[in-house]
Amino acid sequence: MEFVRVVRTRHMTRSFSRQAVSRDTVLQLLDLAVRAPSAGKTQGWSVLVLEGDDVKTFWNLSLPEEKREQFSWPHLLDAPIIMLPFARAQAYVDRYAEPDKTHTGLGESADAWPTPYWTIDTSFAVMTLLLGAHDMGLGTLFFAVFNGEKDIRTHFGVPENEQLIGAVALGWPSETQDKKGRSASRKRLSAHDVAHFGSWN
Ligand SMILES: Cc1cc2nc3c(=O)[nH]c(=O)nc-3n(C[C@H](O)[C@H](O)[C@H](O)COP(=O)(O)O)c2cc1C
Repeated sequence: MEFVRVVRTRHMTRSFSRQAVSRDTVLQLLDLAVRAPSAGKTQGWSVLVLEGDDVKTFWNLSLPEEKREQFSWPHLLDAPIIMLPFARAQAYVDRYAEPDKTHTGLGESADAWPTPYWTIDTSFAVMTLLLGAHDMGLGTLFFAVFNGEKDIRTHFGVPENEQLIGAVALGWPSETQDKKGRSASRKRLSAHDVAHFGSWN
């Protein structure tokens, strides 16, 4: 797809078919994601990819059976892949302690950073992945893991210093979509809405 069309037509998918997505496809998407920019080329992020029964476990821990009846997007649970992107602050502290970056003072600790570039870089990578998936005709939903993070971390052996950014459901969109997202009716801002040329006023 032409780039402009990819960007203009991308949207979150909340209803998936059960059709599998191959590991090769996941790797192709991650191969795009690693092209994303990162501060000092630190690339301090990684993704826990869940397939098959691991996806079931993810949902059992984050959306227990008893809450599913009221859940608005039951076919979100059909997505064959869940990806959990993690940011690693320590990678940035270590990178900025290297000789070419010591002058920044950011190699002292994560607290020295006015902006957490680790979450920014992880987000850039995830956005690249979302666009790449859309270009392949796949659907994605980036969503918050509001419940069960502790158990998910324990179950999948995630080290303590990895910061969970959210979750990405990946799969083939189902032909019929469940309800739209709660924010869908909000107006998309225009270029003029977001631009402040020369001064804020
Ligand atoms: C940081 C972030 C968190 C989000 N969390 C959720 C979520 O928990 N559940 C959900 O259904 N959508 C979630 N979304 C999707 C947004 O609702 C969606 O991107 C927005 O309404 C614009 O729609 P579009 O992406 O389809 O254009 C999230 C998006 C972002 C960027």
